[in-house]
Amino acid sequence: MRWMRAAGRGLLAVAVVLTGYMASGVPSPGVEGAGGRGPMTLATAGDLTGYLGPVLDGWNRAHPAEQVTLVELPDSADETRAQMITDLRSGGGRFDLLNIDVAWTSEFAAAGWIAPLERGRFPLESFLQPVVNTATYDGRLYAVPYVTNAGMLFYRRDVLDREGLRPPRTWAELERQSRTVAPRYGLDGYAGQFLPYEGLTVNAAEAVYSAGGTILGDEGQRVTVDSTAAREGLAFLARGVRDGWIPEEALTYKEEESRRAFQDGRLLFLRNWPYAYAGASGARSKVAGKFGAVPLPGPDGPGASVLGGSNLAVSSHARHPESARDLIAYLTSEGVQRRVLSEGALPPVRAALYEDPALVARFPYLPALRTSVLAAAPRPKSPHYEQVSLAVQAVAHDAMAQHQTPEAAVRRLAAELAAIARRR
Ligand code: GLC
Repeated sequence: MRWMRAAGRGLLAVAVVLTGYMASGVPSPGVEGAGGRGPMTLATAGDLTGYLGPVLDGWNRAHPAEQVTLVELPDSADETRAQMITDLRSGGGRFDLLNIDVAWTSEFAAAGWIAPLERGRFPLESFLQPVVNTATYDGRLYAVPYVTNAGMLFYRRDVLDREGLRPPRTWAELERQSRTVAPRYGLDGYAGQFLPYEGLTVNAAEAVYSAGGTILGDEGQRVTVDSTAAREGLAFLARGVRDGWIPEEALTYKEEESRRAFQDGRLLFLRNWPYAYAGASGARSKVAGKFGAVPLPGPDGPGASVLGGSNLAVSSHARHPESARDLIAYLTSEGVQRRVLSEGALPPVRAALYEDPALVARFPYLPALRTSVLAAAPRPKSPHYEQVSLAVQAVAHDAMAQHQTPEAAVRRLAAELAAIARRR
């Protein structure tokens, strides 16, 4: 469906550009050459809430000679990254502006695939500060934060109210309610994104961070994962599957599968990004008006989310870099950032929106989300991030599938990360 909509939009954009050219017989002034202005593409992972097309239409109406065509890549972070890299490695051409996951800035910058940007040109001081760090590499700005993200715990408020319970703030409470309350209502207990892909790296890192552990230090050169905290984190996830309060099916979930399980009324608790709020409140949801979202729990109190989100970066091969930079300024403007939240259900990067009374009334989880974003921990930093992530996913999956004890899994991860660090 989304592919069809995206293709339709692409055709429309092309048609508008051609009309612009033909009306005057020659390209309008400033289309080529002058400061690198002209049409461009914006590549992004799947637009799960379908809001971006209309936002870009706004730009296209105002910039007939600098039309942007949306290229929607797959929903899964890993597949999107692979498609972007295939193009960038071969000299680029398909994608001018890239909406990249916050986890990739270092890797893309180190490889020379994205061009540095001038700080003064973008309203960085209006952004939530932790997100700005995800856009820098080696002291330079290589991207501009666009959307931020923090994992939250979605819970069935109707069920907990009936039981006189508060949403869990500790793993022990989450585990107890998943084991004892969920079955009484015909529900499964807890799920997150547990298929081996970037989402599992995030969920595993959150468990490790929440227990007070870390994975790597010193920009990827020091391996810090061999700790009691990391074992405790993986043991929490592995125990859930072993004892049945994490359904085995969750080992196949990415964001969308897990969102559907929750909104179809099959789960008591779900770890997901805030975008899931929109679907779960929608007309097709069985849990609309019956759920809430709170910060993730940890071993003895609130846990730590991994910082998610995406940054806008200009490809080193961009055909029209000036237009691409102007489009970044448009997408990070107050007006568009408001729509990112109100139409896209995505967490904006502009700090003031989290305190806007009208938005808080419409999105009651905003204050909790702001707390989660400000406390969120970045993913391990490494120019070999992909290999690091693959190693984390593989051991987390093996521990959850009961193929390896959490102790053995952590030892193996430490050895694999040390081998990756030696490759630099
Ligand atoms: C979300 C986050 C992103 C993360 C991905 C994992 O898209 O915003 O940072 O890498 O999920 O699946």
